[in-house]
Amino acid sequence: MTKRVLITRERLPGGGLTRLGSRAEVVTGPGRPAELAELARRAGGVSAILALGNDRVDARLLDAAGPGLRVVSLASMGYDGVDQRAAADRGVVVTHTPGVLAETTADLTFALILAARRRIGAARDALHAGSWDVFRMEDYLGLDVYGTTLGLVGYGQIARAVARRAAGFGMRVLHHSRSETALSLPQLLAESDIVSLHVPLTQATHHLIGPAELRAMKPTATLVNTSRGAVVDEAALLRALDDGTIHSAGLDVYEREPRGTDVADLLARPGLFALPHIGSASEPTRAAMVDLAVDNVLDVLDGRPARTPLPGTKAVPA
Ligand code: DGY
Repeated sequence: MTKRVLITRERLPGGGLTRLGSRAEVVTGPGRPAELAELARRAGGVSAILALGNDRVDARLLDAAGPGLRVVSLASMGYDGVDQRAAADRGVVVTHTPGVLAETTADLTFALILAARRRIGAARDALHAGSWDVFRMEDYLGLDVYGTTLGLVGYGQIARAVARRAAGFGMRVLHHSRSETALSLPQLLAESDIVSLHVPLTQATHHLIGPAELRAMKPTATLVNTSRGAVVDEAALLRALDDGTIHSAGLDVYEREPRGTDVADLLARPGLFALPHIGSASEPTRAAMVDLAVDNVLDVLDGRPARTPLPGTKAVPA
């Protein structure tokens, strides 16, 4: 019998969905993750759900799918949107997409580092506004990136890819991670010119960077976040930018996503360079993420272990 697979969106990049469609009946979602009730209505009787990192996959959605659900496959590295306990209780495998997006996200991390420190957003805005009337030595001054100290919080695939790029900028690289005790977070914050966050969002990392951590950073420091918004206490960060506690910030992720027109607090700050969660958004990488997510679905539906289950979780349904 043909298996049914729910995709939480109407479209995905690359050829993965076509491949999946040749093997299963594909049911598409309403296109917007906010329409959870509609998503649950469409989930009835599916064997697999293919979702994105920001989608909420909770007990209600799992139950709406019913007892035939075997795998939730995320086309993302992050998995904080999934209720892992609810999935485990129901014997459902949960997978994600490590290994295919680290280089692309590291590129974007460097774009944020450069943009925030060199005030590229403010300079570009001035050009667009027609206010570049004369060349002045004192206009659009930022801080250097080359030769600085980069502190990486978390030291997984993306952080290591950022560290490789930092070598080309002559940077000294420090890192702090839970699995290595070499450098404490306070030490890293005090010594770094640029702090870049690369940890998953968990209870332990929620607001990992708050008022005390921002105060521990240099007044010339830049904070960059391409991980998950809630790793940073966003209100505290905005205050720290306003009162000069730190120099600048580059953000790709926020406590509230997406933002729609609710961006005044971000745009009001020249020290903040903000992007709409595009860390992995290159054509080949997004296609590779979908491909791997489809592979994980087909693995489980064909009775094989999923190739990239979440760390520490089962690769076959119970
Ligand atoms: C990821 O892979 O976690 C990105 O943030 C996209 O969801």
